[in-house]
Amino acid sequence: MGKVLVIGSGGREHAIACAFKRNGHKTYVSPGNFGMVEDVILVPAMDFPATVEYVKANAIDLVFVGPEQPLSEGIADYLQENGIAVIGPSRAAARIESSKAFAKNLMQRYGIPTAAYRSFDRLEEADAYLKDSAYPQVIKADGLAAGKGVVIAQDYKEAKSALEAMMQDQVFGESGSRVVIEEFMRGWEASVFAFTDGENFVSTIFSQDHKPLLDGDKGPNTGGMGAYAPVKSAEKYRDEVNRKIFAPTLKAMREEGCPYKGVLYAGLMITDEGPKVVEFNCRFGDPETEVVLPLLKTDLFAISRAILDGKISKIDIEWEPAYAVTVVAASGGYPGKYEKNITIEFNDGLLRGDHHKIFFAGVKRQGQDLVTSGGRVMMVTAIAESLDLAREIAYRDIEKVRFANMQYRKDIGSKGY
Ligand code: AMP
Ligand code: GLY
Repeated sequence: MGKVLVIGSGGREHAIACAFKRNGHKTYVSPGNFGMVEDVILVPAMDFPATVEYVKANAIDLVFVGPEQPLSEGIADYLQENGIAVIGPSRAAARIESSKAFAKNLMQRYGIPTAAYRSFDRLEEADAYLKDSAYPQVIKADGLAAGKGVVIAQDYKEAKSALEAMMQDQVFGESGSRVVIEEFMRGWEASVFAFTDGENFVSTIFSQDHKPLLDGDKGPNTGGMGAYAPVKSAEKYRDEVNRKIFAPTLKAMREEGCPYKGVLYAGLMITDEGPKVVEFNCRFGDPETEVVLPLLKTDLFAISRAILDGKISKIDIEWEPAYAVTVVAASGGYPGKYEKNITIEFNDGLLRGDHHKIFFAGVKRQGQDLVTSGGRVMMVTAIAESLDLAREIAYRDIEKVRFANMQYRKDIGSKGY
């Protein structure tokens, strides 16, 4: 059995940690959150040198990095240079997420299906381009913006105000000093991950995020309000996704001198012309991980070893023949301003068992209480033999969770793809 340190603090990291733990590995999370305390060993936040020290002092076998931020800051490079086994791409390879212009340029040059685009560093040029465009147009901040740096503008007026917010008022800071303007793609969305050793890869089951705040995909975009897996109707595109998206992207990354090792996330739009890339992420998705990893039968530690040893094509990855649904319980006001430190109660005590699980995100301890500390508070997850049953259990479970002003979508997993 191994010892694993997961870096990150959200529901995704809780799900990653549980995938190691249920296979018998000793699992640490830094910084994690108090909601994980029964499952893992919590370690305070550490900078890169302190992480190296901790890993060495505790004879940890593997570091698994959850979020994009430390990857884009070079945590994988740093740990690797210090002789530590780490799952996550290098800083250069993480540009596939940390710079939309890099990702779009790569896709365009290597013929990977995606929306046509232009990138701009100057407001006047972007503005002139938008004046002459047909609508809708999609406007994105170039850098990391916690899933919120995308505006779908229905007309020039909306486009101009998005542009000014990003480039002039810098609502996303430096991330918006360059913008990418894309053609609007019509279709339906699905997400899929690839485990890759840089050369070969294995793609996972498909899942589906629900990004808008309100039922029926209304309201502002969020970091994700729920997800389900598998998305059976995406299955028929697997071969095309592997052949036209993952394989050429990994080849392109090698040719660009930044081979991609770790977990590659493809956000897809299934259009009339087939699947196209909406975005790449350099890590597992959140909340998709909370429905994909509970269905993973194969030991994530064995998959990680195969990634590190360049043997991903030798491993057979198996999935439970079941469905998972996760519903995000969010603070009132999210994704805008919201109150923190609200006490969380569970009507029937904490839910336990193989078929339901709460993955915790924005929570902390205050005295004897568990209180809210973020916008997305927890992901209430259920596993069952049918999608309908998994949804029913997840919604039954979330009714047992109480905190003032809690909000959640009532239609996760009911689109029926
Ligand atoms: P992103 O953060 O790039 O995943 O974008 C957030 C959401 O905006 C996506 O999940 C899509 O729903 C939507 N979106 C982004 N780019 C496009 C596009 N080119 N065409 C249509 N919808 C898009
Ligand atoms: N679920 C979308 C993301 O992780 O960025």
